[in-house]
Amino acid sequence: MTHDGRIRVGLIGAGGIAGAHVKGYLANPDTTLLVAVADPAEANAKRRAELAGAATYTGYTAMLAEADIDAVDICLPHHLHKDAIVAAARAGKHILCEKPLCLSEEEATEVRAAVSAAGVTLMCAHNQLFSPPVAKALELIRTGVLGRVYEVRTTDSFFNDFDPTTMGWRASAATSGGGELIDTGYHPTYLLLQLAGGVPVEVTAMLSTHRLTFMEGEDSAQILVRFDNGVLGSLVTSWAYAPSTNTERFSVVGELGSLHSDGKNLSYALRSGEQATLAFPAVDEFAAEIGHFARSLLDGTRPLHTEKEGIEVLGIILAAYRSARTRSNAEVRGAGAPALA
Ligand SMILES: NC(=O)c1ccc[n+]([C@@H]2O[C@H](COP(=O)([O-])OP(=O)(O)OC[C@H]3O[C@@H](n4cnc5c(N)ncnc54)[C@H](O)[C@@H]3O)[C@@H](O)[C@H]2O)c1
Repeated sequence: MTHDGRIRVGLIGAGGIAGAHVKGYLANPDTTLLVAVADPAEANAKRRAELAGAATYTGYTAMLAEADIDAVDICLPHHLHKDAIVAAARAGKHILCEKPLCLSEEEATEVRAAVSAAGVTLMCAHNQLFSPPVAKALELIRTGVLGRVYEVRTTDSFFNDFDPTTMGWRASAATSGGGELIDTGYHPTYLLLQLAGGVPVEVTAMLSTHRLTFMEGEDSAQILVRFDNGVLGSLVTSWAYAPSTNTERFSVVGELGSLHSDGKNLSYALRSGEQATLAFPAVDEFAAEIGHFARSLLDGTRPLHTEKEGIEVLGIILAAYRSARTRSNAEVRGAGAPALA
């Protein structure tokens, strides 16, 4: 696949989050090489490319045709994800894609078909799965320490000082896909999915706009999700306010005990009386995510989240929007289908 055992990557979109991705490539020099950056904003492309000594392109079509790359990394505004995924898949490139995977069920169908037809690997850039407390929680669940899981909660809220002049494509539902929920809210949704360990089937949601009234979409969301394995999930996410002190980042309750995390430490308490609080060193989640992407391609192993989970997360979010609109429970569509790649 590669000339020297490394994955050669072309970055598509060189704005804010691309900086964390470039650092991630530089932190994985044995398995990755960032060789090209495409962005019509040439200053952005240059700024990201020069750190890695990569070539620049003003569009990804030329980059896909000309650059010697195995994979692309998509860091675009949300409404541009689907077309970039489909173009990259048709060019035979593997794909790492920032959240959300895409914006609608129709787009998800196109993404699934393009990835399947090309036989490429798509990994969703769900960076918070690479935080050590999350990894430890998943290990405790997987090894049965909590027994059967009953409920999972996730929270991702902060005071966001966006204003209409700085918000760009995020202010409009046509380019963002909704509001806060399909943006920052994607993180607690994929975390909920991973911790619940089932297929999401039903959602009820309430959305609100507490403070960022210039947005077309909501600035806050509260959601309940039922999974096919009986787990119930609840999720709170907001750009309007920081959560109250002691609100957990995530928690899980099972038949044998519970765990909770503030995102840095993880505590668990079992009905047997055993309890512990574990501290973890800080980890660059983006470097870990990119290392995992490269290892998956080099070893031919399945990434933690492919388009299958990306579509399930999107399914929860689209069902939440339907539920809020209709003021009723909404079924999650498109979830549970196997990844076709
Ligand atoms: N994982 C995280 O914590 C996290 C944080 C922030 C953003 N994101 C995600 O990253 C993605 C990008 O967000 P951002 O904050 O970097 O946005 P941004 O607006 O800062 O950057 C987007 C970049 O895409 C470029 N672009 C626009 N059209 C293009 C095209 N056709 N081809 C190539 N480049 C094009 C723009 O010029 C800009 O440089 C979004 O999906 C967002 O949700 C993730």
